[in-house]
Amino acid sequence: MDDKRNGQVGKSANAGFGRPRYAHITGWGMAVPDRVVTNHELAQIVDTSDEWIRTRTGIRQRHIAVDPRETSATLGARAARAALEVADFPASRLDLILCATSSPEHIFPSTASLIQDALGAVHAGACDLSAACSGFVYALSLASSMIVSGQADSVLVVGAEVLSRFVDWSDRTTCVLFGDGAGALLLQASPVPGGVLSSVLGSDGSGSDLLIVPAGGSRRPATLETVASGQHFIKMDGRAVFRFATHVMAEATRQALEKAGLGVADVDLVIPHQANERIIRSSMKQLGLSEDKVFINIDRYGNTSTASIPIAVCEAVAAGRLRPNDNVVMVGFGAGLTWAATAVRWAVPMGQEVPRWRAGQRSAGYSLARVRSRLLRLSRKVEGTLAGEQNEGLGKIVADRLEEWRRARE
Ligand code: ACO
Repeated sequence: MDDKRNGQVGKSANAGFGRPRYAHITGWGMAVPDRVVTNHELAQIVDTSDEWIRTRTGIRQRHIAVDPRETSATLGARAARAALEVADFPASRLDLILCATSSPEHIFPSTASLIQDALGAVHAGACDLSAACSGFVYALSLASSMIVSGQADSVLVVGAEVLSRFVDWSDRTTCVLFGDGAGALLLQASPVPGGVLSSVLGSDGSGSDLLIVPAGGSRRPATLETVASGQHFIKMDGRAVFRFATHVMAEATRQALEKAGLGVADVDLVIPHQANERIIRSSMKQLGLSEDKVFINIDRYGNTSTASIPIAVCEAVAAGRLRPNDNVVMVGFGAGLTWAATAVRWAVPMGQEVPRWRAGQRSAGYSLARVRSRLLRLSRKVEGTLAGEQNEGLGKIVADRLEEWRRARE
């Protein structure tokens, strides 16, 4: 890493064969749609109340992507740009983009590839990761492994969701829970100890039916019947997921700390997946962690799935709740069933100003990326048309020769 501003994080981690490498979080960003939907508004479309939603979940409002042009890729790209801005890092130097999402734009291509194109990250590989709400911590763990093993110097990890498009807005048991948004963290290699210290990843597929979008995959492809019966919407056994989550969040946190050689007393802040405030408080109580050691912002965003942890990281930084050398645990759970936790030593110097001209330069780079993408699309079309004409020409020559041969034989 050749990071000009992160003095503490240090110089190129490539230097010195065999030297240990660490994966540090050097940038963070978030993006949410403008439209806020309050509990009171939801109470007008389903049989619920602000009081029920607040007391059972802690949610007061959520952001919903009402504009159809707003997608997981556009929100993800906005969050990614903000993260690169904080790190003062050009997209053209990214090695890899991992996008954790449960609401990708398509089955394929990956949402990560769309984000890569929007950023003009021309040297980056890109792929999506599917582990539902645990996906962001899974992706963070993989990104860190890529960096520590020397396969990448910089990895952008994005969590991006527009789950509102997979929610049955007539089902009060699920529609009150979810919100849209995206968050991104930039990981960079460094020889300075710290950054991602440990990860714990888990799965129990026997619980796959507890939280599921039943149709739209290869098992039940889209048909008129699957659409008519609402099989493309989220179905959830809330109580069973609740029981699983309260148990697994505390256990995964403990395991991640143990792997990092830390104890609960060493924790400065836990940033949990924001699915339900009661789940978070119950898990932290099991760990014996006081309220000031836990970050909660579910009241304003609802459950944004893979985006909830990076959004919470951004808000924790903004609120001064994350300081250099803090020990942080990020922990999540979700469909699969899956769970994941990671212990991080937050080692980034804060509050350094990025020169304005560099922000301008980056913004011009994004405009160029748009132009580049359009030109590439256009050139492929032209190439395809020309190739078609050439083929037609070749076809005519072959047909003429065949006709000549037939005549000669007659
Ligand atoms: N408004 C009013 N009443 C409601 C609503 C609502 N929105 N939703 C359910 N109820 C009713 C139920 O019908 C039930 O009524 P009944 O007793 O007459 O049958 C009653 O409220 C209690 O229902 P419960 O399901 O027992 O309520 P609970 O306290 O468990 O809260 C909740 C439900 C909020 C869904 C909770 O179970 C939960 O948070 N579960 C975990 C969800 C979760 O974390 N999902 C993770 C998603 S992550 C991912 O991977 C996408």
